[in-house]
Amino acid sequence: MKRDTFGSRLGILAAAAGSAIGLGNIWKFPYITGKNGGAAFILVYLVCITLIGLPVMVSEFVLGRKTQANAVGAFKKIEPRKPWFLSGYLATLTAFIILSYYTMIAGWILSYIGRAATGKLVSIEAANLGAYFESIIGGTFEPLLCTFVIIVLTAIIVISGIKDGVEKYCKILMPVLLGLLILLMFRSLTLEGASKGIEFLFKPDFSQLTTQSVLEALGHSFFTLSLGMGIILTYGSYIDKNENIINLAIQVTIADTVIALMAGLVIFPAVFAYGLEPGQGAGLIFITLPAVFREMPFGTFFGALFFTLIGIAALTSTISLLEVIVSFAIEEFNMHRKKATILVSTAIFLLAIPSVLSFGLWSNITILGKTFFGWFDFLTSNVLLAVGGILVCIFVGWVWGTKNAIAEITSDGQYQFKQQGLYSFIIRFLAPAAILLILLNSTGILSK
Ligand code: PFF
Ligand code: NA
Repeated sequence: MKRDTFGSRLGILAAAAGSAIGLGNIWKFPYITGKNGGAAFILVYLVCITLIGLPVMVSEFVLGRKTQANAVGAFKKIEPRKPWFLSGYLATLTAFIILSYYTMIAGWILSYIGRAATGKLVSIEAANLGAYFESIIGGTFEPLLCTFVIIVLTAIIVISGIKDGVEKYCKILMPVLLGLLILLMFRSLTLEGASKGIEFLFKPDFSQLTTQSVLEALGHSFFTLSLGMGIILTYGSYIDKNENIINLAIQVTIADTVIALMAGLVIFPAVFAYGLEPGQGAGLIFITLPAVFREMPFGTFFGALFFTLIGIAALTSTISLLEVIVSFAIEEFNMHRKKATILVSTAIFLLAIPSVLSFGLWSNITILGKTFFGWFDFLTSNVLLAVGGILVCIFVGWVWGTKNAIAEITSDGQYQFKQQGLYSFIIRFLAPAAILLILLNSTGILSK
């Protein structure tokens, strides 16, 4: 079967960046940075992105391009006799769990679009925004409905195959998001008391750092780059043989990192200017951003626009997540696309319910100190993505072999790859060892 390749280089870049850039950058990065004490955590995160995330992204791209297959097929093609394809199953499971709570957060964004557009949001005093946020997500009907709407929107796009259309939209809208981030950054940085926020972001205090934070930084570098899930691998299968994979991976990584850092520069100066708590958790952007919009001319307009753009960035990520699961269901169970999408989406919604209720009705139900949402987030971001990453490293480093990978990366010598020695070392030794150490530590095995 002949596979299409992306029409343009910009197409694959947009698709990969569309999957990468999302709530991970604008919602999650600021909130875990706040929780883990700021600058020292960011440094560890940047090291994880460059030393582990980027090489793993290159490996996924190249594995996909070489085998011209999806996550399950790629492993089967290179190693048909061993059960490596099971890592494709694991990726699907991870996508499933991530999607269930990611759509909930996107649902919160939806709630905020409406409130921003009607001017309600800018009418609330900064000091009351925390309670306001909690009253919204602590509800039952609205958060469930909003999660449902996000799932339905994602499903419609995945069924009707208008992903390409979405991509075209995004090429226009994502630069608008970037422009708006720059604008907000200026507003936030010029607030009185903003300098404490800059200090928080750039003046590292390593005494705050725990192995738990290192694990979180590593897990987030996979989450934010959409790694360990077979998504980048699948996109790799559409890249032209003559394309320079290294450049592509670097561009996606830089775009993703820049957006995250900018989000940090919007949030933290404002957090300190308004005396908010940086470590307050998942509500951080929902409480901080409206306070910034209040202080801007046309705050209602900018607020509504900004939440809408974040919502769209989130949708391009949910599409990529749902696509992994749906194409898995189509291939494994021989289902039609429409039927598979409806079944999977229904299951996603059912799994989203405990996450949604974690902030309201069921907020008292905890297992070992974590709510359902807490567990889903921890399991995926801190455990499953790391395991997915290790599997890719071992597979490329030891089963397929970095020699073969490098031949494919350079398009059989067409491109120079000066750091190939370093790349080999990272994929074969450094990345798997680092991931393993941190995983063992997080599960408590090493600390005993
Ligand atoms: N990378 C996305 C973000 O940062 O929002 C989230 C994500 C999408 C994670 C797709 C994993 C994934 F496979
Ligand atoms: Na991201």
